Amino acid sequence: MQPRIVTMTTAVLVLAGTLAGAPAPVLSPRLSASIPQTSSGGTALGDYLLLSWNDLGMHCMNQYHADFSILPPYNNIHAQLLRRGDVLNPPRLVTSGATLNYSFPGNTYSVGKTDFWTYAPALFGVTLPDNIGLTGKGLTGTLDPASGHYVAAGVPITPFTDVQPGVEDGYQQALIIAHDSTTGTELARSNPVVPVSVEISCVSSGCHSSVNAILNAHPKVTGFDATKRPILCAKCHADPALGTTGNGEANYFSFRMHDAHKFIDQEVPGIEGCYKCHPGSHTQCLRGVMANQHGLICQNCHGNMANVSSTIETGRVPWVNEPSCAGCHTARFGEPNGGLYKLSRGHGGVMCEGCHNSTHAEWPSREYRDNANAIAIQGTAAPLGNCVSCHGVVPAGLGPHDLPATGVPGQEILAGARPMVISPNPTRGACTIRFQAKSAGTGTLLVFDAQGRTIRLIEMGAVKPGTVQAAWDGSDGHGGKASPGVYFARWQQGDSRAAAKFVIVR
Ligand code: HEC
Ligand code: HEC
Ligand code: HEC
Ligand code: HEC
Ligand code: HEC
Ligand code: HEC
Repeated sequence: MQPRIVTMTTAVLVLAGTLAGAPAPVLSPRLSASIPQTSSGGTALGDYLLLSWNDLGMHCMNQYHADFSILPPYNNIHAQLLRRGDVLNPPRLVTSGATLNYSFPGNTYSVGKTDFWTYAPALFGVTLPDNIGLTGKGLTGTLDPASGHYVAAGVPITPFTDVQPGVEDGYQQALIIAHDSTTGTELARSNPVVPVSVEISCVSSGCHSSVNAILNAHPKVTGFDATKRPILCAKCHADPALGTTGNGEANYFSFRMHDAHKFIDQEVPGIEGCYKCHPGSHTQCLRGVMANQHGLICQNCHGNMANVSSTIETGRVPWVNEPSCAGCHTARFGEPNGGLYKLSRGHGGVMCEGCHNSTHAEWPSREYRDNANAIAIQGTAAPLGNCVSCHGVVPAGLGPHDLPATGVPGQEILAGARPMVISPNPTRGACTIRFQAKSAGTGTLLVFDAQGRTIRLIEMGAVKPGTVQAAWDGSDGHGGKASPGVYFARWQQGDSRAAAKFVIVR
């Protein structure tokens, strides 16, 4: 038994990171950049943004492994670091020169919250240090560079915080901080949900009465000994999620599970049937925009239990051949080359999940924690579509999915306004603003940045009708100098408005 399990562990190490050997996407050199180390290199906070996410939307694990194990604690965190663009440069994916560290504030240990470490030697043939998972990752650590992004695979997080270890909370949140590897300066941080649940519920009312009942009901096949525990189901049943190939006769674990339980299609139809095992009536892991706002359920995308199993009989490889966005949304909004969503990238080399979040938790998600990154980056829980968040300016040309820039703050500010003259434009900061006032009295002259943030109120006093001239010293409301980028000025007097766009260069 020992040698076989050692081989399987190797498979876990090799396969689980990329999930079953899908080809690594090739990154074109123009999409990569390292941290510039020159004096003008903008390593200040705010010049970078960090996209981060979990790949599946929910990881299921057993809390107890003394009898049998379906899945161990094993979560994957992904991230992409972007250097924000400006007037002269497009945004760049940063693929070297940065160090990305992760941690879980408030969830700092796993030993004791699950008995996995006691049984890992018997199940996986490895003795693991406390709180270290199957790939060597702990609850704090570093993300490893992978073509065009960063990954920490196999993080052994549990759904139990330190403060309330008795209460399951499936939506644990990590903190990722990117530092300049040379200077140690913080570049950006983000807070992905790293979801995990123990709500597998085999033993529950209306289902199995006990663990013994489950193991005693297993077919009496060679090598299956219900008394020799713990049992790793994936030892015989092939499981691409764990990288095990099983023995042919036992077939895929996914096939056996869904085939043997397909009566659930009749007895508990709909999402509640899937929630009998997939977490679950408490966790409700399906929380993305399509479920939350458009009423889609598991069966709309995966088919029912009978379909999940019968498609395996006819050649579908579980975990590797899954539904695609393109299947319902047309190729323009789909994965290139029919690849898996979680491995695909789109506009500018940004991964689909970087702009949309994990499968099953696509923005806007029902869970507010899922939306934290989108809100931090662009102010709203929606797919990342605000050009300025990444480009720093509104770029000329098409954006994600070849869509033109829409809904950008500039359009709102400029709409219906008479022009004003700003000189010099571009400016290094200070400038004069000239416009026509319609009538005598007071009004409001404001400067906005490209994201529509109000950054300066220019005090004017009462004006006379005709040409008015005002001066702005280029400072923001905090006494600092406004950084290079696109800005807008707007004069408003009653419902009469004048506005203009201008650019600050360094
Ligand atoms: C020693 C190898 C082995 C292990 C370990 C093993 N199985 Fe199986 N299992 C098999 C084989 C072989 C079959 C097919 C038996 C047959 O066709 O009659 C099977 C069949 C099944 C079936 C289908 C039963 C049916 O009536 O359709 C289920 C469900 C199942 N296994 C679940 C599990 C679970 C859950 C575990 C872990 C607790 C597990 N197996 C561990 C070898 C194994
Ligand atoms: C009786 C328990 C059970 C029920 C009910 C159940 N599943 Fe599963 N499902 C599992 C287990 C266990 C796995 C993990 C198998 C593995 O590790 O390979 C799984 C894995 C999967 C996978 C990934 C593997 C694959 O085949 O691609 C999909 C997709 C899936 N289930 C869909 C569904 C859907 C959709 C429903 C409801 C129609 C459902 N499941 C209901 C137990 C269940
Ligand atoms: C809107 C469509 C959609 C719905 C609804 C949906 N899924 Fe999925 N599911 C997908 C897609 C797409 C993938 C493949 C993701 C990838 O390639 O990264 C997937 C993958 C999976 C996987 C494999 C692990 C993974 O993420 O790759 C499991 C397990 C799964 N789904 C279970 C479920 C269950 C259970 C439900 C209902 C509670 C459900 N799904 C609802 C689209 C959906
Ligand atoms: C089973 C078909 C199906 C699959 C698979 C599917 N979608 Fe959808 N999606 C829909 C439907 C239906 C809508 C709702 C359209 C509407 O009513 O506006 C939708 C809407 C959306 C929306 C817009 C939501 C909004 O309110 O504006 C986004 C974003 C989206 N899907 C992303 C995805 C992503 C990402 C994937 C792949 C992980 C995916 N979809 C897979 C059917 C699907
Ligand atoms: C740079 C950010 C970005 C990337 C990368 C990205 N998307 Fe999108 N996606 C968006 C935005 C923004 C929208 C909303 C567009 C709109 O409704 O105007 C969207 C919309 C969608 C929709 C919904 C379309 C509909 O019918 O409403 C799907 C599906 C989708 N994307 C899939 C993908 C897939 C698959 C990938 C990876 C191959 C991907 N996206 C990569 C930003 C992105
Ligand atoms: C999540 C970040 C992100 C968002 C949001 C985004 N982009 Fe981009 N965009 C990129 C990246 C990264 C590149 C790749 C730049 C390179 O390396 O050449 C890029 C490249 C481009 C390019 C080609 C290079 C250039 O600047 O000429 C255009 C055009 C573009 N984006 C337009 C848009 C538009 C329009 C929007 C808004 C509708 C938008 N982008 C939203 C990240 C983003």
